[in-house]
Amino acid sequence: MEKQEIRTFGRRHGKKLSARQNLLIETVLPAIMPSNQPKTGLILEIGFGAGEHLREIARQNPGKIIIGAEPFMNGVASLLSAITNDDNSIRAEYKNIRVFPDDVRDFLRDTDSQFEQIWILHPDPWPKARHEKRRLLHADFLNILATHLAPNGEIIIGTDHWEYFDWIRTEVSKTALCTHIPDIQTIHTRYQQKNKANTSAPKYLVLRT
Ligand SMILES: C[S@@+](CC[C@H](N)C(=O)[O-])C[C@H]1O[C@@H](n2cnc3c(N)ncnc32)[C@H](O)[C@@H]1O
Repeated sequence: MEKQEIRTFGRRHGKKLSARQNLLIETVLPAIMPSNQPKTGLILEIGFGAGEHLREIARQNPGKIIIGAEPFMNGVASLLSAITNDDNSIRAEYKNIRVFPDDVRDFLRDTDSQFEQIWILHPDPWPKARHEKRRLLHADFLNILATHLAPNGEIIIGTDHWEYFDWIRTEVSKTALCTHIPDIQTIHTRYQQKNKANTSAPKYLVLRT
């Protein structure tokens, strides 16, 4: 029997969705789920939250397909609202977005796609010691991500939880990935604005094979 994976995310549902958000989930989401995507020119964002950064990279990379994975349906609904016109068609600048509305580990298990970039911004820090096993970015998962990197591809991680940052670096040291501390300006996402860790700035890490 397959080993049950530990859940790395908090909620799947938050406050009640609006009628329009429900409609978008029923009609637009199925049309932009990833399937038969090209083998090259792919970017993945894991845990995109409300999708601010996903939308930004979609605008910056019109020639690439941007896949976002997020199990929190209110976040998915926020993204769908932001990328659609009043008539529910996808806005021209976001036609390259695909959404997997669930655990990214399920998506990666079923695809041989390779990504030029894999973004993970503010992964849930699970700060209580008894929850540490819920952290997503342990060595085994990083090794799985490494198998999905295109040649010269990179994994870009950002967190304002400095203790988690150090923990991730320890996990990285158990893998064959090479670490680079980049000079990235703060990337503004909804979670970054909250800055629950109360740190002065997020820290970023770029990993390559
Ligand atoms: C702290 S939030 C950050 C959201 C967003 N990146 C931001 O900066 O605003 C972490 C997100 O990761 C998502 N997440 C956690 N585990 C995940 C998994 N296994 N696959 C995909 N998303 C996951 C959660 O649902 C949550 O929305």
